[in-house]
Amino acid sequence: MPSQITNQNISFIGGGNMAISLIGGILHTGCDRECLWVSEPDADRRDALAEGFGIHVIDDNAKAVEKADTVVFAVKPQMMRQVLQALAAPIARHRPLVVSIAAGVREPDIRRWLGFDAAIVRTMPNTPALVGSGATALFANPWVDSAQRDRAESLLRAVGVTLWVDKESDMDSVTALSGSGPAYFFLIMEILETVGRELGLTPEVVRLLTLETAFGAAKMALESPERPQTLRTRVTSPGGTTERALAVLKEGNIAGLFDSALRAARDRSVELGDQLGDDFGENLNG
Ligand SMILES: NC(=O)c1ccc[n+]([C@@H]2O[C@H](COP(=O)([O-])OP(=O)(O)OC[C@H]3O[C@@H](n4cnc5c(N)ncnc54)[C@H](OP(=O)(O)O)[C@@H]3O)[C@@H](O)[C@H]2O)c1
Repeated sequence: MPSQITNQNISFIGGGNMAISLIGGILHTGCDRECLWVSEPDADRRDALAEGFGIHVIDDNAKAVEKADTVVFAVKPQMMRQVLQALAAPIARHRPLVVSIAAGVREPDIRRWLGFDAAIVRTMPNTPALVGSGATALFANPWVDSAQRDRAESLLRAVGVTLWVDKESDMDSVTALSGSGPAYFFLIMEILETVGRELGLTPEVVRLLTLETAFGAAKMALESPERPQTLRTRVTSPGGTTERALAVLKEGNIAGLFDSALRAARDRSVELGDQLGDDFGENLNG
């Protein structure tokens, strides 16, 4: 982990699943426990965080902001407006880097709720971040300097790979691809397991074969310089079983289905962003 994160105080607002993964990842990189703070309303969760990580655990968002060089907002998207507005004064006073992991909440809305041009990095992690294999897109507003950019990137890299997008509107496509993406792969696994059982294999066998095949294919695609199309062609012998199966998928227009699915997810992301940023509740039925 680059030094820009190890000597800086990081405060989490919200100590739920994502915060736990990030804190675990950051500690794993050797960050000093003394540098980490989390503010969480639930007493049982606070006890578990203190016991599990040995970091500073409090029930006071404003105090967490006072301590921080970076504040990570890890509450549910619907809570963001209320939580940010309540912290506007301490954030304006201390000027920490604001990092949001809340899905769908846009940077201009965060800035409006804070009431000033704060340095904000909006991020879009995905669920595999919970097991350290996330893929996170980040977007920085113009008030973020290069040291803060590095800091935000280091933080999210603790739970997987990171990449920057230049336009915030790209976050809607990112949401459609990698945000919702794990569910597409889970669905394919689910289908393979069901059909594998129908073909007479035992549940244990289909589970192991399905998961290891998915893992092996992803590993191969990641480690190979070749594109997936080339890898697919290589395992598709003329007249063989794979060719027969792929012909059926093509006939069923699998590409068209995924095209429609991703566009639908992207459009829904735009709608949700509109709803979350709507201070007057006019878009709530979107
Ligand atoms: N989980 C994922 O895979 C994933 C992926 C991408 C993005 N995200 C984003 O990550 C954020 C957190 O998700 P999560 O899954 O970690 O949710 P979560 O487990 O529900 O965590 C949210 C935490 O915030 C606490 N909280 C509620 N109100 C608060 C307040 N006023 N001040 C401080 N803390 C407060 C909640 O406490 P209570 O339970 O007591 O309300 C809860 O512990 C969300 O915005 C989500 O969009 C999550």
